[in-house]
Amino acid sequence: MTTQPFKNVYLLPQTNQLTGLYTIIRDKNTTRPDFIFYSDRIIRLLVEEGLNHMPVVDKTVATHTGEDFHGVGFEGKICGVSIVRAGESMEQGLREVCRSVRIGKILIQRDEETALPKLYYEKLPEDIDNRYVFLLDPMLATGGSAIMATDVLIKRGVKPERIYFLNLIGCKEGIENYHRAHPDVKIVTGCIDRGLNEQRYLVPGLGDFGDRYYCI
Ligand code: PRP
Ligand code: URA
Ligand code: MG
Repeated sequence: MTTQPFKNVYLLPQTNQLTGLYTIIRDKNTTRPDFIFYSDRIIRLLVEEGLNHMPVVDKTVATHTGEDFHGVGFEGKICGVSIVRAGESMEQGLREVCRSVRIGKILIQRDEETALPKLYYEKLPEDIDNRYVFLLDPMLATGGSAIMATDVLIKRGVKPERIYFLNLIGCKEGIENYHRAHPDVKIVTGCIDRGLNEQRYLVPGLGDFGDRYYCI
């Protein structure tokens, strides 16, 4: 069972296994291959948890025994949208679970001095307004980047209640800022950190996720 620390926030069960995974990726001495491997494991859990909250409709199938099974199927189609760069790290985890899923990209970068986000580029599936959207970004710090990306989705006709923001680490300030702008979007996160430092990085956090996954 997930817990709900805030409305529309789903926090992964805080099991010893999950804490162990976060212990590895937060460790500054963890190598890049290990950082990728263990982040990918958490990403997979977030995708599965996001799917747990998707609406379903009743569906009955005939089995090989001649009996029917009364089950469910997803109500709608989904797509992924990653906030480039760090969000791209979550695309593979989504693809592993949702075969040939369509994926859009929104390039937003935080200014290194001010931590304010800037939108550079967007490329989204044509029919995104008819889909549920898994918005992908591992870090929710001030919330500025996620708010800007969600604004783009809503401008393209996506209904806010159909957006699921999948995120590895958030904090109260970021969640509150984000939900002030977009209260109906569901956040699926694995961890809620203590807060932000002067550089607007999550603490204890793990540093720059994109650098650790792709560069250092
Ligand atoms: C990071 C992260 C989020 C954003 C979070 O991206 O991946 O997109 O910062 O911060 P915020 O909540 O204060 O907006 P960054 O712009 O550093 O780019 P990167 O993906 O290239 O690392
Ligand atoms: N981006 C990151 O990669 N890490 C943070 O802590 C904040 C923004
Ligand atoms: Mg970065």
